[in-house]
Amino acid sequence: MAIYLDNAATSFPKPEAVYRRIDEAFRQSGGNPGRGGHQLSLDASRIVFTAREAVANFFGISDSSRIAFTSNATEAINLALFGFLHPGDRVVTTNMEHNAVARPLRALQERGVEVVKVAADRYGFVPAEDFCQACAAAPTALAVLGHISNVTGTIQDLETIGSWCRSHGVPLLVDAAQSAGLLPINVETLGIDLFAAPGHKGLFGPVGSGFLYVRPGLELVPLLYGGTGANSDSDLMPEVMPERLESGTPNTPGLAGLTAGIAWLEEVGLTAIREHEIKCMSRLLAGLAALPGLELYGPGDATQCGGVLSFNIKGLDPSTVAFRLDHEFSICVRAGLHCAPEAHRAIGTYPVGTVRVSPGMMTSLEEIEEFITAIATIAGKV
Ligand SMILES: Cc1ncc(COP(=O)(O)O)c(C=O)c1O
Repeated sequence: MAIYLDNAATSFPKPEAVYRRIDEAFRQSGGNPGRGGHQLSLDASRIVFTAREAVANFFGISDSSRIAFTSNATEAINLALFGFLHPGDRVVTTNMEHNAVARPLRALQERGVEVVKVAADRYGFVPAEDFCQACAAAPTALAVLGHISNVTGTIQDLETIGSWCRSHGVPLLVDAAQSAGLLPINVETLGIDLFAAPGHKGLFGPVGSGFLYVRPGLELVPLLYGGTGANSDSDLMPEVMPERLESGTPNTPGLAGLTAGIAWLEEVGLTAIREHEIKCMSRLLAGLAALPGLELYGPGDATQCGGVLSFNIKGLDPSTVAFRLDHEFSICVRAGLHCAPEAHRAIGTYPVGTVRVSPGMMTSLEEIEEFITAIATIAGKV
């Protein structure tokens, strides 16, 4: 069996209960949710409703109807950006963002949206003062922040930025792709207006699940138009959430799996999840830092980063390292720019990128040791 150290891309394996629940929902609740009054449709509707409640409960959201399900974080971010921004608006974001944020913003820039990018330091950290100052410099329609970098693992100061944005009336969109399920996040306490997350990473749901929370009072233009199962007599999209932002048949088995993933997280507890991640990351940082010829990126302190570490072996292309890890040691990591080219410019690794190792809750410390030994072998042969 391969050693999987690419949890920043998607978590694997999932808890047993997630596989079981998906299978059960797929076999037993096979109707189309909200598209019929028969029992199998109602069963499926209950699954979707329960998933919405589970997400709301987990992230401190009082009204679950403000959560729209999407197929991943990218769709949730696109829904937020294209749904909220208009030509002439000003957006403040950072140069650490994933292409899921950077590319829609670039497309919006071409439609007349002004995009201001606040620079990170070489550890991938964006000082909250810089971010808030940029927001204060001119009327800002939206602030957009990736909570944890998928390149360096750097945790941004969401508490300070969230409370500043709230007190200054600047709506805040958070990309929680790398933090949902790892750090405790209370969306309402943190003053988050739009919150995008995948279901398939830290929440342990399957691929094909994700969501966007929209604070009450914010009205978004839908990304997709179509059937919602209600108000079928009108050719206009319903005004009410979540139907307004959810057209087409949802991923019922995926949402059943997401609910099971969240239930598993609640049972294990975020404290235990974070402690395990810190143990894995501390050992990785110490083990790799002790090897000659390695360059490590990011904060260098497991308590200041999520479950992501980027590094390079001097003289070796990151893709060669990842290829050898896979083929000689059966270890799965990611190499390259990790869909965040500007983050690499910030830390000085553009254009070759880095090797990215991302352990998760299912990673054992023995696997971390095997990984360090494999890197020592590869680095020794340079
Ligand atoms: C920081 C960040 N944002 C957004 C995404 C996009 O997530 P998804 O693959 O669910 O669309 C990722 C995926 O790796 C990410 O790391």
